[in-house]
Amino acid sequence: MRLACLTLLLVSVCWALPFRQSVFLDFMMDDEPGSALPEPLPPSTRRPPKIPKGPGAPEIPEFTDIPLGPVCPFRCQCHLRVVQCSDLGMKNVPEDIPVDATLLDLQNNKISEIRENDFKGLKGLHALILVNNKITIIHAKAFAPLVSLQRLYLSKNLLKDIPANMPKSLQELRIHENQISKIRKATFAGMAHVIVMELGSNPLTSSGVDGGAFADLKRVSYIRIADTNITAIPKGLPSSLSELHLDGNKITKVTADSLKGLKNLAKLGLSHNEISVVENGSLAMVPHLRELHLDSNALTAVPPGLPEHKYIQVIYLHSNKIAAVGTEDFCPPSYNTKKAMYSGISLFSNPVPYWEVQPITFRCVFDRSAIQLGNYRKK
Ligand SMILES: *[C@@H]1O[C@H](CO)[C@@H](O)[C@H](O)[C@H]1NC(C)=O
Ligand SMILES: *[C@@H]1O[C@H](CO)[C@@H](O)[C@H](O)[C@H]1NC(C)=O
Repeated sequence: MRLACLTLLLVSVCWALPFRQSVFLDFMMDDEPGSALPEPLPPSTRRPPKIPKGPGAPEIPEFTDIPLGPVCPFRCQCHLRVVQCSDLGMKNVPEDIPVDATLLDLQNNKISEIRENDFKGLKGLHALILVNNKITIIHAKAFAPLVSLQRLYLSKNLLKDIPANMPKSLQELRIHENQISKIRKATFAGMAHVIVMELGSNPLTSSGVDGGAFADLKRVSYIRIADTNITAIPKGLPSSLSELHLDGNKITKVTADSLKGLKNLAKLGLSHNEISVVENGSLAMVPHLRELHLDSNALTAVPPGLPEHKYIQVIYLHSNKIAAVGTEDFCPPSYNTKKAMYSGISLFSNPVPYWEVQPITFRCVFDRSAIQLGNYRKK
């Protein structure tokens, strides 16, 4: 809703100021400084700017005086290769999409099916936004023309499967809030350019995720699978991963095996799971971890391996069942080891009486304010 409003706002700003569209483009294509501003269309094909009329003046359709009649789907707005068709109650992908379009926004419509020829000829399209429709079917060949597609946003639809034959050029896939229950080994085969993958809020279980399903994502840096029913960390995640967000699942333990090879992992989110055990050796598998969220789980002890870990700076352990905290749980025994100082430790809402925790326990913490210990921040 907020995004929709923002988009509408930006579009109306674009109407008023036809030469200041970089705002919208920056927003959508922020990591492509070179290609962010496509060349403007020749003046004859550009729509005239809206001229404010006096109160009560009749609304005159403005596109009647366009000499060449630029190709733009009925009721959509086309500016600088951005085709804006959101919030129009559309039941199908419209016809007449300009073939040089780089961004096609179809969010907040009522599209239920993507047909074979819906995106025919759109070989320059970089971003396709289909968020919040009613899509249940995507034709197996529908994405075939999209040879340049980098971003595919399919969240908030009714898909039961991740579409087959997604463009190999894809860098970002967002498909959360659908009805996906399976991730097959072939699903992401050959998708070597994906950097961001958002799969949360789908009815996934661990048996629905094939081992090695993510193995082909050789460049992926961010994976989020939050708020599903998986009970274990998926196996065989790519070593390129730097952020893994698995919050709000039903994971019961952290095994060393599941984190094997994740040598670039910097952030691991496991809040709101059912984790009672972090196996010995798990943290050693992720030597560059900086942030670990294990709050709202069923841990009875501080995870092993923290004193030996060089880079962990933030560890959330609040709302668990930790009944005792030892002086060697967080910090190495001597001061002169090379270990980054902690900048955040949370332990509140645990059964440990906080007055029993020795201050020396936190000798490798940057500042006293970095520790949240008592139960005063109970949720
Ligand atoms: C997880 O399973 C429960 C119980 O079967 C179900 O009610 C819930 O909707 C599932 N969660 C998701 C995200 O599908
Ligand atoms: C984990 O390691 C500690 C210290 O080496 C040891 O005391 C403990 O028994 C180990 N736990 C398991 C489950 O192997």
